[in-house]
Amino acid sequence: MMFLQILFTFSFLFSSSNALDFCVGDLNTPQGPAGYSCKNPEAVIVDDFIFSGLHVAGNTSNLTNSVATPVFSTQFPGFNGLGISLARLDMAIGGWVPMHTHPGASELFVVMQGTIRAGFISSTNKVYIKTLEEGDVMVFPQDLMHFQFNVGKSPALAFASFSKASTDIYIMDNAWFANDLPVDILQKTTFLDPDQIKKLKGVFGGTY
Ligand SMILES: *[C@@H]1O[C@H](CO)[C@@H](O)[C@H](O)[C@H]1NC(C)=O
Ligand SMILES: *[C@@H]1O[C@H](CO)[C@@H](O)[C@H](O)[C@H]1NC(C)=O
Repeated sequence: MMFLQILFTFSFLFSSSNALDFCVGDLNTPQGPAGYSCKNPEAVIVDDFIFSGLHVAGNTSNLTNSVATPVFSTQFPGFNGLGISLARLDMAIGGWVPMHTHPGASELFVVMQGTIRAGFISSTNKVYIKTLEEGDVMVFPQDLMHFQFNVGKSPALAFASFSKASTDIYIMDNAWFANDLPVDILQKTTFLDPDQIKKLKGVFGGTY
């Protein structure tokens, strides 16, 4: 009798933990470091696990002639809590993604079309760089600065997946030049002339 009772208690515990198979994000809740709060599991439907539209190329007419279309937990709440996400990267001829990092997330980069020169810099300042062709996969280890250039004669397409459900794209140029960081501090930290710093602030929308 006692044994049956214990068995019953255990099966109850296990069946309630099964309800944590997923945590579809409730976009009405604030997004914290652990993501969104879970949508009520009773209200979760199959479409919460499906995202459509990644066949559509992004508009590459911007400063870098490239555009990333993110599918992070904000665009696709089904990723919430699972530690994975995805982006489509379109690069026009000559386009590039400037030096950037994804804090806490490694990136798996798959070239679908074109020729992309990509690389990263380790924390001992060693450069790992390679020209990738269609079907090549490169991994950018978490937190390291990396970049991609379309060096081919046609537009390039790649998909990137990340080891976080929502990934910051922390672009070095923007961190330095797209804000009101004082010119004298930038002069000391970058070793650039004040005129060059003001010019770069103009390019990236910063103020001084
Ligand atoms: C792409 O963006 C540019 C600049 O914002 C805009 O002028 C152009 O119409 C857009 N092209 C398409 C196809 O949406
Ligand atoms: C243009 O490129 C910049 C730098 O890569 C990126 O931050 C921005 O989102 C892009 N613009 C658009 C409209 O996608």
